Amino acid sequence: MTGFDNEVGAGGDQPPASDVRAEAGARVKVWDPIVRLFHWSLVIAFTAAWLTGDELKRVHEWAGYTIVALLAVRVVWGFIGTPYARFGNFIYRPSTIVRFLLDTARFRARRYVGHNPAGGAMAVALLLMLAATTATGIMLTSDAYWGVDWVEDAHEIAANLAIMLVGLHLAGVLVASVEHRENLAGAMITGWKRRR
Ligand code: HEM
Ligand code: HEM
Repeated sequence: MTGFDNEVGAGGDQPPASDVRAEAGARVKVWDPIVRLFHWSLVIAFTAAWLTGDELKRVHEWAGYTIVALLAVRVVWGFIGTPYARFGNFIYRPSTIVRFLLDTARFRARRYVGHNPAGGAMAVALLLMLAATTATGIMLTSDAYWGVDWVEDAHEIAANLAIMLVGLHLAGVLVASVEHRENLAGAMITGWKRRR
């Protein structure tokens, strides 16, 4: 953990020590430029890879390599980045995630300034599934695995699971935005969220 809790109203009001200046007002700078650039570049590259899977092999592979580079930067940033960007801030116990989802089903989940427990789990799931998709994709370009059925199948299944996670991701963003009357997508653009 990074030594602070991003849960609002449960001791989560404590700003991360390194971010006190940015937290002085009613708003909190949550997503740093690297997280935001990572996110929207990923959206573009993933859309490009998805649309070109069956044809446009050059575009498809370059979109895929772009995703690999983005994942690499994000993983490093998850260890050394700004407080809300760190894995320690958004990886929760499974029991906490389940409790959060049950609360969400009753529309009375707590608000978090950073990723909530389900959002954090989704971020990790997306990163892992994208890693599996790109790894099997790169295997398909190698002499050893080119045209090998199980690798093609694995690539296609991983890509489909990734798109399913994206669907759940968008649903989660929408539900949390409505529940707490805030624009989470907007926050991923500007970096700012209201403190409480
Ligand atoms: C998240 C990134 C990626 C997504 C969403 C994705 C998605 C897809 C999809 C949907 C297909 C079509 C599967 C089919 O209909 O058989 C495909 C095929 C393919 N992809 Fe990817 N892919 C990604 C990354 C990559 C990467 C990084 C590479 C290699 C550098 C790659 C290489 C290939 C190749 C060679 C095929 C053709 C396989 C075949 O002919 O069955 N992909 N990809
Ligand atoms: C237009 C479509 C999308 C919107 C509006 C959107 C919105 C968001 C928002 C609001 C967050 C922050 C969630 C929070 O407050 O806890 C987020 C995080 C994230 N999204 Fe998306 N998203 C979109 C598409 C995608 C796609 C296509 C992918 C991957 C293929 C993706 C991957 C991620 C990841 C990995 C995170 C975690 C960010 C981090 O901690 O670095 N998103 N997204």
